[in-house]
Order: sequence, then C-alpha cells, then structure tokens
Amino acid sequence: MNVRSLISLLSLAAATTLAAQTSPAPTPPMGWNSWNHFAGKVTDVDVRATADQLVSTGMRDAGYVYVNIDDTWQGKRDASGIIHANEKFPDMKALADYVHSKGLKLGIYSGPGEQTCAHYEGSLGHEAQDAQTYAGWGIDLLKYDLCSFSKQMAAERAAHPDDPKAATKLMIAAYKKMGDALRATGRPILYSLCQYGLEEPWKWGPQVGASMWRTTDDINDTWARMFIIAQSQSDLAPFAGPGHWNDPDMLEVGNGGMKTEEYRQHMTLWAMLASPLLAGNDLTKMTDADKSILMNRDVIAIDQDPLGKQATRLYQHGDISVWTRPLTGNRIAVALVTASWGERNIQFDLAQAGFPSGANVRDVWAAKDLGHQQGIFTGTVRQHGVMLLILSK
Ligand code: GAL
Repeated sequence: MNVRSLISLLSLAAATTLAAQTSPAPTPPMGWNSWNHFAGKVTDVDVRATADQLVSTGMRDAGYVYVNIDDTWQGKRDASGIIHANEKFPDMKALADYVHSKGLKLGIYSGPGEQTCAHYEGSLGHEAQDAQTYAGWGIDLLKYDLCSFSKQMAAERAAHPDDPKAATKLMIAAYKKMGDALRATGRPILYSLCQYGLEEPWKWGPQVGASMWRTTDDINDTWARMFIIAQSQSDLAPFAGPGHWNDPDMLEVGNGGMKTEEYRQHMTLWAMLASPLLAGNDLTKMTDADKSILMNRDVIAIDQDPLGKQATRLYQHGDISVWTRPLTGNRIAVALVTASWGERNIQFDLAQAGFPSGANVRDVWAAKDLGHQQGIFTGTVRQHGVMLLILSK
C-alpha cells in the first residue's frame, strides 16, 4: 500500500470513528413505538401512559428511552404550510415536555411522499419546514416512511426509460433532503429510514444522515413472520456498526401472538443482530414473562455491546441454526436456534467459534455458568426456542 492510500484509509477510519462518536446512536437505539399495538388509534393519552409505564416498570432504566409516535398523528397544514397535529394530539410541544420530564425522548413519523401509508399528510415539498416544526416541538427521532413516494418514483422511471437507476436516485435524494433538513435544525434528531430495505439502504443510509434503516417489510405478531425476517439478516452484518444499524423492524414481544418461548427467540435474535430494540406492546398490560424477556439485562447488554458487531450464521442445517456475535472482552455470544416443532439437540464446535482450547460457557437466559467446556458443545432447545450462550476465556 502506498503512502497516499494509507493516509486516505486512516482519514476514512478517523471520520468513521468521529461519526460514531457524534451519532445519536453509538449503540442500537432502544425505546417503544406505537404502531405494532395501537396502530391508527394512538393518542396523546396512550403516549403519556406509555412514558409513565416505561419509568414504573423499569424499562427506561433498562435502556428503553425513545417513545415514538408512528403514523396517524398528523392534522392539516395551515395557510403558511405548517403542519399541525390532529385532535388526538392536542399539544405536541406539551407532550414532548412531559416525555422529556420523565428522562425519555420523543419520536415522530412522516414520509417523503404526499401521504403516509395510513393516508395522512406527508412531507413532500415541506421538508425543511417540517424539520423545523419537529425541532420546535422538541422531537428527538424521525421515522421517515416511503409509502406514497412510489408515485414520484414511477413518474421518474417513466420519464427516464434509459436509466434503470433513475427512480432509486430520486428516492435517495428524497431521503437526503430530509436528512439535511434535520441537520440544519441544529437539534440532534435521530433519523430512521423506513423503505423496507429497497435498493440496499445499508449502502447509502449513512450518507443521508441515517442512524438506522429498515431491512425488510413489516413484521407481524406471528412466529413465522418474525423468524423469516431474522433468517434473512445474516448477509447484512458488515453494514452495522457504531452509529448506523440495520433495523429488522420493531419488537412484538407482549402482543400475544407468540408463545413465551417464541418471544424469547425473537428477543434473542434481535439482540444478536444488534437491532434497534423498540418495544411494540401495550406497556400497561405487561405480564411477568413479557417483562422478563424485554428487561433481561444480559440480553440487552449483548444487543448494546459497544463493539457493535452484528451476528452472522455459523451454520444452518434444516430447522436448526447457530449464530455467533463477537463481543467486547474477547467474548463471543452464541445463539442456538430451532424452527422445529420438537425439542432438538443443537451442537457446535467451540474451536469453530474461536475457542480451540475451550471456553467458559454461560447460559444467559438460565443465568447459569456451565463451567469450562471443550470440543463439541451440545444444547437442548425446545420447540421454536433458543439457547443463548456467552463464551469467554
Ligand atoms: C408501514 C411501516 C410500519 C408503520 C406503518 C404506518 O409502511 O413499515 O412500520 O410505520 O407504515 O402506516
């Protein structure tokens, strides 16, 4: 390598480190989002109750600090184009003050098109104005959802039949426009892209100012959908790191559609994937099982590990897979995962996981040290279940 390329490599590394330090997301963002449970019914009252619950349940102290209002808060624009919230949110600034008074942050939602997915007002043509409005209210996060912008993309495609990338370029420019507008407000507003992984946002997300980007279409509260999403993430590991995260969508833990073991698998996979952890349940109705899953400190610590390395699949044989994720302190997290209807013995070679002379093994969900192990490790995993281990020297 010549001196010039060494210097440019070093300055790239320095710029990346600086970006990570100044990013609002040095580790994957954690909080709550209204969509998975409340969808279009969310109100100011629900958001305040959620803020209260985040504090009283211990969720905030476990790291869940963002309270994100998803689609359907928008009202009309006034004569000067300023967006106002609808009657469900009588005073957004007062709501932000309330959320902040609890030591939490407030997130909001819009999109680059004329309309959002739920057919509320989008930001097209009002990007700078909306960013200023959000900053004035005291907003801390914006989720920006593609939705009806597909209309503009179709028109661009038709106008440039010779350029197969024309629509993609228009979409990236639209995301950059809002990213720049947020930055221009001077308020740190975490920018969360939602365009379902179209056109590989992991490759251009950081350049438009994003701290996270959805990698898939929507999750729902079924084990099958959750599992399909998780299985599609392994190749994206190189694109996650301090300051910028792949987002396989929000958590469904506590919404009732999966068994406890399945929710434990969901939480484990999201933590292994260094995913943002955005709870999506009604926090006023949490069971002890929901709390034990969402607030397991050791699982959260894996998600939030400062190295920021996303897990990759060590192997997959039919219904079983083994995932590994490097952690600080030369440790490795290992998840033994099954999609099977029955109990399975899942094996992996400690040497292949980076421990040729064996490792101390901790079973994270059981909160039990399994002592020093060598060679092949075998874990028994229940139906749709998981065993989560930390290996150390
Ligand atoms: C979808 C998005 C969901 C939710 C919904 C609101 O496009 O993926 O997470 O935001 O729109 O309408």
